[in-house]
Amino acid sequence: FDNGTPHIVYRDLNNHLQLLFQENGVWQKRQITQGDDQRAKSDPSVYEFGTIHIIYQGWDDQMREILLDRGELTYFRITDGDAQKIAGRPVGFVREGAQHIVYRQPDGNINHMRFENERWVHNQLIGAEDMLAAGDPQLHFWGTQHFLYRGQDGHLHELVVNLEGWDNFQLTFGDEQKMAGDGIGFGTVLDKPWQMVVYRTPSGQLNTVSFVNGIWTHNVLDTSLAPQAAADSKFSTYFYGAQHILYKTAQGEIQELVLTSNGWESYAPIFLDQAQLNSSPAGFAHISTYPTPPSFLLKTLADKYDLELGVTVNQSVFENDPVYRQMLVEQFNIVSNENILKFGPIHPEQDRYDFENADELVQFVQDNSMTMRGHALVWHTQQPAWLEFGGWNREEMIEILEDHIATVVGRYAGKIKYWDVVNEAIDEDTNQMRETFWLETIGPDYLDIAFHAARAADPDAILIYNDYGNSHINPKSDAIYEMIVGMLNRGVPIDGVGFQLHISTHLPFDIDSIRANMDLFAALGLKVQFTEIDVRIWQNTSALPNRLVDQAQRYHDLLELCIEHPACETYQMWGFTDGVTWVYDFFGGEYPFEAPLPWDVDYRPKPAYYALVDAMAPNATAAYLPYIQQ
Ligand code: XIL
Repeated sequence: FDNGTPHIVYRDLNNHLQLLFQENGVWQKRQITQGDDQRAKSDPSVYEFGTIHIIYQGWDDQMREILLDRGELTYFRITDGDAQKIAGRPVGFVREGAQHIVYRQPDGNINHMRFENERWVHNQLIGAEDMLAAGDPQLHFWGTQHFLYRGQDGHLHELVVNLEGWDNFQLTFGDEQKMAGDGIGFGTVLDKPWQMVVYRTPSGQLNTVSFVNGIWTHNVLDTSLAPQAAADSKFSTYFYGAQHILYKTAQGEIQELVLTSNGWESYAPIFLDQAQLNSSPAGFAHISTYPTPPSFLLKTLADKYDLELGVTVNQSVFENDPVYRQMLVEQFNIVSNENILKFGPIHPEQDRYDFENADELVQFVQDNSMTMRGHALVWHTQQPAWLEFGGWNREEMIEILEDHIATVVGRYAGKIKYWDVVNEAIDEDTNQMRETFWLETIGPDYLDIAFHAARAADPDAILIYNDYGNSHINPKSDAIYEMIVGMLNRGVPIDGVGFQLHISTHLPFDIDSIRANMDLFAALGLKVQFTEIDVRIWQNTSALPNRLVDQAQRYHDLLELCIEHPACETYQMWGFTDGVTWVYDFFGGEYPFEAPLPWDVDYRPKPAYYALVDAMAPNATAAYLPYIQQ
């Protein structure tokens, strides 16, 4: 959890509770429990309301609570006496100002404690023999509070508390629906108000109980998908888009069941070739949110290759979301602007520039010792009306262009290392120069003029021609090649070509063709940069996990190619979280079915993130698994 500083609480191998927290971007560790009697028998449950509350079963089987308030620790023993000893991990929650804790006693009773008027009130919630709990309760929310547990009768039970009080429900019936373990996957499926519990029956089958339209319905999963022999482990579920369930079969294989709108399908879920799973998998829900362990920060790995690895920055998210900013700094060593240096945003009126946003981003880049790509001086969209519809003649337009470049590039000279001087000048249908107002008013030499102006304004800046659909060898790329050869022959100062790489897994991808294309430009003495990578998946018809794997593979292969190719030093993505991307607007496809970037909307790393790690640290991903399993 994160109340300003990210915190992780866990039980170490000596049964002491440890706290990991970040201070100035560096992880610190602090032991919470002290002395033998404070050791923890159960894993801690942690809650935050104002202060941080850590609840656990102590070594003496009493329930203990530790409050953490601005670094100060206060210790309590909550339960007292034999009858209140606890037999598992307590779960708590906060409701209406009171703190509630639900726990299982050694005799199987599930009890409830409530902190009200500065004292704890104790209620026994279930008593009858058949309802005694054999598994720890788990807490889930939707509106009211829900606790699920496995009864001693082997059936799944639910405790619900709402304003009226507690209700107790039995969810499964009949011998074949009994449960053989805890391992309850539970959650909102496909973003609908639909809850589901997944469990293993005594015969090894995977069953589900779903809460749809206010009632629980029992389903047996297709046994061909979940063989009876399976499921010898706990299950875990995780979400992104679809509902995913991971489990270990009796043969020790990790299997994945995925529920999409088409129904259940079964997959083997190893995303990365080096990954080895030695214990029950915990699923991606538990990788959970940022932060990532320091040794797996992309920047840490990229630095080893002297690689510039980064993303474009969306200004409004940058201004409003501290996690976004933190990730920028921690994961990446290069950024570009998404929009703010484009002609329209920065030069809205003929006599007025708006430098505020760009100044802020450039300062941020400097403060954090990052590198900056400026995007883009000359393009055919996001231009101000005064420019596009001003009725300018060739001479006037050249003057405007030169003046604009001198002003913008000059202002950030020494601070913006790369400029996309001209963006998208070749038309993909005709493979001729795109018919833009630049071409109409100035003529084809507008590119030469722009590059000369940029060189004059900052002689050290590295000047790039940037385009899309030009990464493979194809007619468009050939046209760009010819155009650049012409520029070089005329002595135009151009240093490199950018491949935007807005790609999709439903379209062909030939890494050898991209490499061969890079070779061509490299032979001209040019740099080749990957400038705007994102990988769309929506139009790929295979199931979501496969699409995420295909996506991961493309991020991976491009990064591997960039590392290996002498002309490539810059690998930049057009964003990093699925929450902030131009793709939904431009190409259609909605999250979670479209999800083009390596982190999901909640900053949870996706297979593509691990693929990036994997490209830079082959064999290291297995070492990452302990973090995944947390
Ligand atoms: C996109 C931005 O991401 C959007 O926010 C904006 O509305 C339109 O432009 N190729 C480019 C980028 O070179 O400038 C484009 O950026 C994406 C395609």
